[in-house]
Amino acid sequence: MNTANFIPNILEYSLEKATYKWQTPSNIALVKYWGKSDPQIPKNASISFTLNNCHTTTQIEFIKIESTEIPLFELFFEGKKKDDFKPKIATFFDRIKKYCPYLLEYKMIIHSENSFPHSSGIASSASGMSAIAMCLIHLEKELTLNTDDAFLKQKASFLSRLGSGSASRSVEGPIVVWGKHPEIVGSSDLYGVKFPYPIAPIFQDFQDTILLVDKGEKQVSSTVGHNLMIDHPYAENRFKQANENLSILSKILQEGAIEEFIKLVESEALTLHAMMLTSQPYFILMKPKTLEIINEIWKYRSETKSNVCFTLDAGANVHLLYPKKEKESIAVFIQEKLSQYCQNNQYINDYSGLGSSKI
Ligand code: PMV
Repeated sequence: MNTANFIPNILEYSLEKATYKWQTPSNIALVKYWGKSDPQIPKNASISFTLNNCHTTTQIEFIKIESTEIPLFELFFEGKKKDDFKPKIATFFDRIKKYCPYLLEYKMIIHSENSFPHSSGIASSASGMSAIAMCLIHLEKELTLNTDDAFLKQKASFLSRLGSGSASRSVEGPIVVWGKHPEIVGSSDLYGVKFPYPIAPIFQDFQDTILLVDKGEKQVSSTVGHNLMIDHPYAENRFKQANENLSILSKILQEGAIEEFIKLVESEALTLHAMMLTSQPYFILMKPKTLEIINEIWKYRSETKSNVCFTLDAGANVHLLYPKKEKESIAVFIQEKLSQYCQNNQYINDYSGLGSSKI
């Protein structure tokens, strides 16, 4: 599949008005994407759990206008006009207009809201960009009369990727791979694909409690972070290691090898942060409480033989990952031990979900 396949054929703009509303979730990477080349092509393949409760709901009203040169839109976030979010969306529309020529034929009124607090340190670009992409693709479906849902999902992921790389992994669930990988059938640098093999029972309905350590704005944007991998002394080894880790994780997920899962996933999280620690300029996104939590998890695991583990995003929050059957005991562990390290004792219980849904 090459990019030309995503340029739609003849479109009829007889539709005067249409409204679509979609909800798409965030995702948490197990093998991390960190480093890219233009246009949003990942340096290595990555894999994530699609989440369920952390999501963005977006409604777009399309109103037919005379053709314009630049996409016209108004943006409301949680009911209020949000002009400071507009440049990011405008860049996204500019990047995808070649694949969505209808963006120049309609004015868009966008209403968006997140299920999680905006300044929670949870990246909203994955859920936000994919929710917009789902609305666009449903307009396209109506304009082209294309009913090939597999293609439409693939294109929604392709468009999402051009908004934010990790957003390509939010269209479907429960586990998605993005980036070409020899052992993942159908994988591509252009869009995410559902993990194509059977998932062992222990990894079904996997739980993710997000411990909100630092709810501030990101200190380093992911764009800056990805760019710091360009001349990074360890970059080539890191990209190779990530692809190897994905091969190993693919087997782990099929075989249900939970102990191997824990080792690999925690190592991936720490390696992501090690890349940040060793870039020029270098930076630290973990906070003292991030480390306190990690030590508590390791202590708890050695005392109880639990299968809980952690992963990290590009921030200080800790994602606590565990099998569903440990839900009750981990709830007590969080309540008694971990919540004290969270800002205002806040955390969000989530689990692996199935991706985008129509509202
Ligand atoms: O999608 P971006 O450009 O915000 O990059 C996300 C990178 C990580 O969240 C750190 C890792 C990942 O694979 O999601």
